[in-house]
Amino acid sequence: MKVMIIYESTRGRTKAMAEAIREGATLAGGECAVVDAQDFSSLEGVCALAVGSSTRMTRVLPIVKRILSELPKLNGLPTAAFGSYGWSGEAPDEISAKLKELGGTLVSEQPIKAKDYPAESILAECRSLGEKLAASCS
Ligand SMILES: Cc1cc2nc3c(=O)[nH]c(=O)nc-3n(C[C@H](O)[C@H](O)[C@H](O)COP(=O)(O)O)c2cc1C
Repeated sequence: MKVMIIYESTRGRTKAMAEAIREGATLAGGECAVVDAQDFSSLEGVCALAVGSSTRMTRVLPIVKRILSELPKLNGLPTAAFGSYGWSGEAPDEISAKLKELGGTLVSEQPIKAKDYPAESILAECRSLGEKLAASCS
């Protein structure tokens, strides 16, 4: 069973957050897969899930949006949302709401948001989110 981190990122900022979440999960001894949204196929073998997207025109990017609309019920799966933004940052909140609606259990009510490139303090938050997700798998 593994932690899966699905992200969509145009300039690598949300991707950097995904990599930091992976670092945390791996350090905590968890198995972890970082998946570019365009390569996502299924949640098979997933014990915790983080989904990230930057914000474009106040919305989630299109591939993550489609994935969220196609995911099965999450039945209490530990979940989290994250993403980089420029000024308003709606996408991570939209992802959180959708994960909750699908029946996921948010490991943190507040998604992690990074203005522009994630600062070191945000990357540290991402690492601890990864640790939490890995812990929720054991
Ligand atoms: C066409 C376009 C529209 C955007 N719209 C928003 C927006 O509505 N709200 C916001 O907070 N940021 C907006 N942004 C800024 C991006 O979210 C920001 O640059 C982010 O850091 C990109 O992260 P990424 O590299 O992970 O895609 C927009 C950027 C572009 C290019």
